[in-house]
Amino acid sequence: MSRTYANNQAETKANPIAGACVVARNITKVFSSPGGVITACKDVNLSAAPGEFVVIVGPSGCGKSTLLRMMAGLDSPTSGTLQVDSPNGKRPTNSMVFHGRTLFPWLSLRSNVAYGMQMHGKSRRARLDRADELLDLVGLGDFRNAWPHQVSEGMRQRTSLARALAIDPQLLLMDEPFGALDEQTRYILQEELLRIWDNTGKTVIFVTHSIEEALLLGDRIVVMTARPGTIADDIVVPFPRPRSLTTIRSHAEFGPLFDRIWSRLRDEVERGGAFR
Ligand SMILES: Nc1ncnc2c1ncn2[C@@H]1O[C@H](COP(=O)(O)OP(=O)(O)OP(=O)(O)O)[C@@H](O)[C@H]1O
Ligand SMILES: [Mg+2]
Repeated sequence: MSRTYANNQAETKANPIAGACVVARNITKVFSSPGGVITACKDVNLSAAPGEFVVIVGPSGCGKSTLLRMMAGLDSPTSGTLQVDSPNGKRPTNSMVFHGRTLFPWLSLRSNVAYGMQMHGKSRRARLDRADELLDLVGLGDFRNAWPHQVSEGMRQRTSLARALAIDPQLLLMDEPFGALDEQTRYILQEELLRIWDNTGKTVIFVTHSIEEALLLGDRIVVMTARPGTIADDIVVPFPRPRSLTTIRSHAEFGPLFDRIWSRLRDEVERGGAFR
């Protein structure tokens, strides 16, 4: 299939947005459930500057999804402060992208993408036009009328990304969005995400279990400890952009950074108890 992409340059000029600014100070989240009290994360200090791409890695259960949900305003911290500011002084907008089945199966790809814009007061025509532009942007223009079950998992995930972009969020919160994809599709979507991010200036907070993915995407990589999750390391990724797996793998810093992150994570995964 040949891909057609919208003119991103034109989109950037039409939407001169900058991303949101995120500052989390001493965030602790405690859950009470019938099984007892669980401290998901503790004293987390984490920030993202406008337009920054921050990747979070950490052992399973250390509170990564919980942090993203709080940043999205879907949950609130037990203690600490979480500030999300928009560069234009208005209420900041955010979108979340998860892995797995998140599309409405009874709507076409186009209607799935258009759906989120209903709340934003756009006319039906404007919503569908914008959905078409975004489906072009993620290479799915030819499939706009397909139903989710008629396309591949990678195409569904691209549709989820288009849907997240539809409200033009200043903060994109991505929770292992490519985790369930085959390796080659993942490579392609990583490149597409970098291209879209580069052209739109959104702030991205991205959770992954893949160190290589973190090194490819992030301006910074935040490494968390086992639960209760706290920040173990905060690393500035020095690779120049634009990046590809080929260029970063041959960079002198790739091996040392990979080892630094893996040795930290390995300690934490083992400390978390799953492998004893
Ligand atoms: N609504 C909830 N009620 C009770 N406990 C919860 C709730 N949500 C999360 N937890 C607990 O908080 C901890 C952190 O969960 P979270 O989903 O944030 O981890 P995670 O780092 O995203 O893990 P994974 O890498 O496996 O996705 C876990 O122990 C989980 O059981
Ligand atoms: Mg999670």
